Amino acid sequence: MPTRIKVILYFSSCCLPWIALATFACGAETDNASSKDSPPKAREKLVIAHRGASGYLPEHTLEAYALAYAQGADFIEPDVVISKDGVLVCNHDIHMQDTTNVAELFPGRQRADGRYYFIDFTLAELKTLAVKGRRDSAEPGYQIPTLAEMLTMIRRLNERTGRNVGTIPEPKSPRWHRDEGQPLEAKLLDQYAAFGLTQRTDPVIVQCFELDALRRMRQELKSDLRMVYLTGGAPDDRTLDDLATFADGIGPALKAIENDGQSVRDNDLVRRAHERRLKVIPYTLGNDEAQTRRFFNQYDVDGLFTDFPDVAVRARATRQ
Ligand code: G3P
Ligand code: CA
Repeated sequence: MPTRIKVILYFSSCCLPWIALATFACGAETDNASSKDSPPKAREKLVIAHRGASGYLPEHTLEAYALAYAQGADFIEPDVVISKDGVLVCNHDIHMQDTTNVAELFPGRQRADGRYYFIDFTLAELKTLAVKGRRDSAEPGYQIPTLAEMLTMIRRLNERTGRNVGTIPEPKSPRWHRDEGQPLEAKLLDQYAAFGLTQRTDPVIVQCFELDALRRMRQELKSDLRMVYLTGGAPDDRTLDDLATFADGIGPALKAIENDGQSVRDNDLVRRAHERRLKVIPYTLGNDEAQTRRFFNQYDVDGLFTDFPDVAVRARATRQ
């Protein structure tokens, strides 16, 4: 039976699976590091688990993060929002009706737009919810993790395996959170500082779609952590020049580099970014090893977000 299937079966039968995954994690790293086929340059490229191994397990659960770790991801992504009582929790959306059973448990707590917002629920309330995949019905057993719980798990796995897997937090909608009276940026940096993670040499990359939030963290809050600007398209030269003064890279959508399996016309985004010493880590690859190889080898990106870390680890180890 393939290791991946064994891991998934293991998850479905155990309530605290992640500690036992250390052996799988060691194996994944050893495989990658010892691959004779992998060109040295390619081995430096990062596999970033998008919302955990979200192609296999409900996104933003400890189980999905642990599976990503086991599959050999270099960085694991928590999207970050905040609860009513000011606790950072991991979720992609600022509301939760699509990924939890909140409507069933808390009827009447939605806003006028029909959505149930994290910021309107305490952590104790959030912990009663069951997390589900976007197309699944609720599966009891999956909980919303706090960011502290996620960082604790990664730290323990790193201690037990000797690996140095990082996290790449994305504060979601900082402007909206600020307008709601719950600014995210300082809390996020404080949470990382509580884990001793403050330096650019630490295994942390902060990413955000809002340039102002990144600039605030660098210039006002004096963070030294690496920072990546997420963008749906290809930034122009002026934006790249500005980014180069305080950020470390860009995270463009795939379509800024490749569309329908073809390199986009006049595709020079990676070159323009590299000229300014900005890394390029596009989002989000799926279960497509050939496409993942193109991004690593043909487009020369520095890393990529993927829902299938095992596929990307394999693709990285293979020449075109
Ligand atoms: O952060 C990279 C990627 O996750 C951005 O897209 O919408 O999945 O957060 P999204
Ligand atoms: Ca994200």
